[in-house]
Amino acid sequence: MALLSIITAPDPRLKIKAKPVKAVNDEIRRLMDDMLETMYAAPGIGLAAPQVGVAKRVLVVDIARENEKPQPLRIANPEILWRSEELATYNEGCLSLPEHYADVSRPARIKLRYLDHENEIREVELEGLLATCVQHEMDHLEGVLFVDHISPLKRNIILRKLAKLKRQKTTETVSA
Ligand code: NI
Repeated sequence: MALLSIITAPDPRLKIKAKPVKAVNDEIRRLMDDMLETMYAAPGIGLAAPQVGVAKRVLVVDIARENEKPQPLRIANPEILWRSEELATYNEGCLSLPEHYADVSRPARIKLRYLDHENEIREVELEGLLATCVQHEMDHLEGVLFVDHISPLKRNIILRKLAKLKRQKTTETVSA
């Protein structure tokens, strides 16, 4: 397994629409494992392939707490078959928007179809934090970030701060 580098916003690679995988083969399994390792190291509870520069419809999530047994989900080509009208609001963050958080409302429950790490089709009903996390990661496959769900004013403040941070980092690297 290998640690991958996580792309932070603003970056055009976070705005693309990812392509479905043909099948979950060894290459995709390795990607899923590397993404999980990267996510745990960050640490985070979800990661989508575009965040590590891979334009494929692949994501991983694990909402288990530090003292709980890991419950990794490896997901390819996810599709939402049904979403509840009832919404749930969580204060979301994102490994691609480090240290920024905002309240986002999404359907509280979803029915999801996906390909698992053995290339088997699965259908599950998700609720609570897991439902939110999967929807957040699925947004990444469409080039959508959680800040796209909040007011343009708040979004611009966050993106401007991140752009400034990025410029500072580049300068530091150049001068080192
Ligand atoms: Ni994210």
